[in-house]
Amino acid sequence: MKISIEQLNKIYTNGNWALKDINLEIPNGMFGLLGPNGAGKSSLMRILVTLMKPTNGKVTVNDQYDLMKNRREIRAMLGYLPQDFRFFAKLKTWEFLDYTARLAGMKNRARREEAVDRMLEEVGLFEARDRNANRLSGGMKRRLGIAQALINDPKIIIVDEPTTGLDPEERIRFRNLLSNISTRDVIIILSTHIVGDISSTCENVALLNKGKLAFTGSPSDLVREAEGKVWQIQATEKEYLEINDKFPVITTIPSDYGWEMQVVADEINGYYGKPIEPNLEHAYVYFMEKKLNQWTSA
Ligand SMILES: Nc1ncnc2c1ncn2[C@@H]1O[C@H](COP(=O)(O)OP(=O)(O)O)[C@@H](O)[C@H]1O
Ligand SMILES: [Mg+2]
Repeated sequence: MKISIEQLNKIYTNGNWALKDINLEIPNGMFGLLGPNGAGKSSLMRILVTLMKPTNGKVTVNDQYDLMKNRREIRAMLGYLPQDFRFFAKLKTWEFLDYTARLAGMKNRARREEAVDRMLEEVGLFEARDRNANRLSGGMKRRLGIAQALINDPKIIIVDEPTTGLDPEERIRFRNLLSNISTRDVIIILSTHIVGDISSTCENVALLNKGKLAFTGSPSDLVREAEGKVWQIQATEKEYLEINDKFPVITTIPSDYGWEMQVVADEINGYYGKPIEPNLEHAYVYFMEKKLNQWTSA
C-alpha cells in the first residue's frame, strides 16, 4: 500500500489556511502524524477519508486511485476513527459493532456475527459484549472505536488522536493493538500531539506545524536532526530567568548551584553547559520552536 500526497492545500471558507503545500509519501506500516493543536492533522485526515475536499492538490492510492475521481474505491479500503468519536444510540457493545458492520455493507448475518465476535476478541472487549456501549470506560470506548474502524478489514486505517484522555496503561495497550495490526499489508496513520505515542511504534513520522510539513522520515532521522542542538546548562537563580526567556526549555531540575536545565539552542554563548544526546522529545521541540521561528521570521 502507498498513499501519495502532492501539493495539498486546504483553505477553509473563513480563510483559515489549515494545510500548506503538503507533499508526502505514506508507505505500509504505522505512520505517525505529530503536531500541536491546530497543526492541521484532523484536516489532513478528513481529506484522506473523503469527508472533505482539499482546496487543491492531489492524493493517489497505490499509483492507481485518485482521491477525487475514485472516491468509492478508496472508501471501500478505509477505516476511520474520528477525533470526536462518540455514541449516540443506546446499544450494547456487540450491537454497536454489528450496526457499523451493516453500515460498512456486510449483509450476510452469520458472517457479520463472526466478524463482530472476532473483532471484540481482538480489541479485548469480548467479555464486555453485552454491556451498554455508553457505559464502557474511556479506554474501552476507544477500543470499540478502533474495532468499528477495523470491522471491514480496511487497507488504510486512519485514527485521529486515539490516545487523548487515556491513562498510561490504556495508552500502551492501544499502541500495541495498533502495532499488531500494522504488521499486515496495511497503512495505519495515527495522529497525536504526544511524542511518546509515536516513538516506539511508528516506522515513519511527519511533523505538522501551522499547516506546514516540518519534517518527514523515521523517528531516528528526526532525532539525528537535533544533534548538537540540545544542551544541559548549569544555571544560577538569575540565569534561570534569562534562559527561560531566551531558549525553549525542556526540563528544569533544582540542583546545588541553582538549576540544571535542558534547552534547545544552536549555541548557549556565555552559559555553562554541554551538548547532550537528543531524544525524540528534544527533536520535536527543536523542530516546533526553533525551525518554525526561523521560517516565520525569514
Ligand atoms: N471547519 C473548520 N472551519 C474553519 N477552520 C477550521 C475548521 N476546522 C479546523 N479549522 C482550522 O484549521 C486549522 C487546523 O485545524 P485541525 O486540522 O483541526 O488541526 P489539528 O487536528 O492538528 O488540531 C486550525 O487553525 C483550525 O482552527
Ligand atoms: Mg485534530
